[in-house]
Amino acid sequence: MRTKFVTPVRVTCVRAIPVHMTLIALLSLAACGDSTRSAADESSEKIAFAATREGVDAAPQVGQDQNGERPATITDVDLELTLLERDNPVRELPGRMVGHDMSLAQTRNPPDPERARLGRWLYYDTRLSADGSISCATCHRPENGFSEPTPVSTGIDGQMGGRKAPSFLNAAFAFYEPTFWDGRAADLEEQAKGPIENPIEMGDTHTAVVDKIAASPGYRHFFERAFGDDEVDIDRIAHAIADYERTRVSGNSRYDRFKEYDEEEDGPLAEPLLSAQEELGHDLFFGDAKCATCHVGNHFTDSLFHNLGVGWDANSNELADLGRYVVTEQEADKGAFKTPGLREVTRRAPYMHDGSMATLRDVMVHYSIGGHANPQLSPKMEKLDLTDEQIDALVAFMGALEGEGWMDEPPTLFPR
Ligand code: HEC
Ligand code: HEC
Repeated sequence: MRTKFVTPVRVTCVRAIPVHMTLIALLSLAACGDSTRSAADESSEKIAFAATREGVDAAPQVGQDQNGERPATITDVDLELTLLERDNPVRELPGRMVGHDMSLAQTRNPPDPERARLGRWLYYDTRLSADGSISCATCHRPENGFSEPTPVSTGIDGQMGGRKAPSFLNAAFAFYEPTFWDGRAADLEEQAKGPIENPIEMGDTHTAVVDKIAASPGYRHFFERAFGDDEVDIDRIAHAIADYERTRVSGNSRYDRFKEYDEEEDGPLAEPLLSAQEELGHDLFFGDAKCATCHVGNHFTDSLFHNLGVGWDANSNELADLGRYVVTEQEADKGAFKTPGLREVTRRAPYMHDGSMATLRDVMVHYSIGGHANPQLSPKMEKLDLTDEQIDALVAFMGALEGEGWMDEPPTLFPR
């Protein structure tokens, strides 16, 4: 029987490298990584790969130091930090976006750019799960507006939860930070700690995650940058992730520009911002269909809980999920769920807390019939008897809420 040897995870050869030899140094780092790396060490492979690529980028600069300047020296660690820095730089907070009352910096609890940058790594890092297979982004995917395209979530070992992963876009601006479908968490920080320990989500323990992150000199460097010293604890991990989440903001949609448009100031338009159909949907949303009684304000949520009859089983006369009731034990809260914001809503089908409605049209039909009758149905739910034309108009209006500024993709390099 053959014994499988696993080589150490960290690149061990450290040497001082003159800056004017950047290209050679970068290439030799790549080679060095190859000879001492375990096959399983994927992040080191990524660094080595990037080092090669950066080496090519850096090529024209080689020889520029020949004017007598004494070259500084860098180590592999410096080099790695430089590459990480370049791949995931600190980003300034955006100014006020069209459709918002204030900028991110003016919110109650504004994100700190250094912490948000650190949080961006942690958010996409699968090392936060027990078997290294799941990150926050597995279920809250950027391309789905930080939700996911399945009715319910699948966590570690393929285990399914009972609820759909909600989007946290524009959370920084909400009246109350989103606190799960049933409001059981206090803020985004508390929420970030939950899934790490949830046995069917990431299935790890806080101690194990803290140990893994603290074992990485790269991470410790960026913890120091974000918090003033390099101590890693679960509160800091959660704080950094929450700050990253707070930077995910959607604005400047066609609806926003329509709302802020001023003919005198902005001049005539080449084409209307909303189509006739979208404008009909807009008028229904804020008028007869009364959507804005719950989907209120710039971010389309009252941050409150309502029972629309989603998950009500008319045969057994039971709710599949008691929702807010589990937190408050108030009869009226049975089957009540948080009003989701509607920005980028087109990207996150299927809909509702249980993902039970495949399309936006299905959602509108649900409102048209006044929801599913059940003992705790919200008094705000009325039979609307919408025509097909009105339903299509409301669906079209949802499309006008697609904005910009929220998109992201995972960093390509992670601290080791
Ligand atoms: C296995 C899938 C999965 C993973 C992994 C996961 N989540 Fe979630 N997340 C969910 C589901 C499902 C909910 C809704 C749960 C509920 O309401 O009871 C949720 C809710 C949330 C919410 C609340 C949003 C709102 O509108 O109420 C936030 C914020 C959040 N998760 C952040 C995170 C962060 C940060 C991580 C990584 C540390 C993470 N999630 C990892 C599935 C996941
Ligand atoms: C009584 C308050 C209330 C009213 C009125 C209301 N909504 Fe909702 N809306 C909610 C709640 C609460 C949910 C989530 C319900 C659940 O999952 O059980 C929701 C979910 C949605 C969703 C799905 C979003 C997602 O991420 O899954 C859309 C789309 C939507 N509403 C649009 C509308 C439109 C359009 C109208 C008007 C026709 C409207 N709503 C009227 C409270 C309301």
